[in-house]
Amino acid sequence: MQIIEPLEQQGVLVRRERDKLEHEIDRFFVIESEGNILGCAALYPFPDESTAELACLAVNPFYRDGGRGERLLAFAEARARKAKFKSLFVLSTRTTHWFIERGFAEADISRLPGRKHHSTITNDARKSS
Ligand SMILES: CC(C)(COP(=O)(O)OP(=O)(O)OC[C@H]1O[C@@H](n2cnc3c(N)ncnc32)[C@H](O)[C@@H]1OP(=O)(O)O)[C@@H](O)C(=O)NCCC(=O)NCCS
Repeated sequence: MQIIEPLEQQGVLVRRERDKLEHEIDRFFVIESEGNILGCAALYPFPDESTAELACLAVNPFYRDGGRGERLLAFAEARARKAKFKSLFVLSTRTTHWFIERGFAEADISRLPGRKHHSTITNDARKSS
């Protein structure tokens, strides 16, 4: 939470309800060193569409630029491959280039899985109202 909360406040990460987050804790994985969590990410599967969302990728600002973001991404990719998903997607507004430099390509919102497409449009509509 110490890593995620400031990023939610800055609008870098979408805010997740705390009880929902607790419920979904199994989706998360972390980099830990000497009892401290240095970074985290989550993988949300969409089996019907054979894809998965990489979400909540964040590294403690004191530990950035040391390849930890890449390690978390590599772990998510390996998990997605193991589950035989055909693709991995991420919703990003501020960190687009970081992902493009690591093999992602920008795609139209219509390519999102149906369930995700709906909630993203609903959230966008809320933001602009
Ligand atoms: C993106 C993030 C996870 C990368 O973590 P990290 O451990 O610093 O990653 P790495 O060390 O693997 O990569 C660092 C490189 O990414 C670059 N970088 C960092 N943020 C970037 C951004 N927003 N856009 C483009 N490049 C970025 C750094 O300049 C560095 O470049 P270099 O290798 O040429 O020096 C981390 O910057 C972070 O937590 N950002 C805030 C949360 C966020 O934006 N998450 C993505 C949500 S969609």
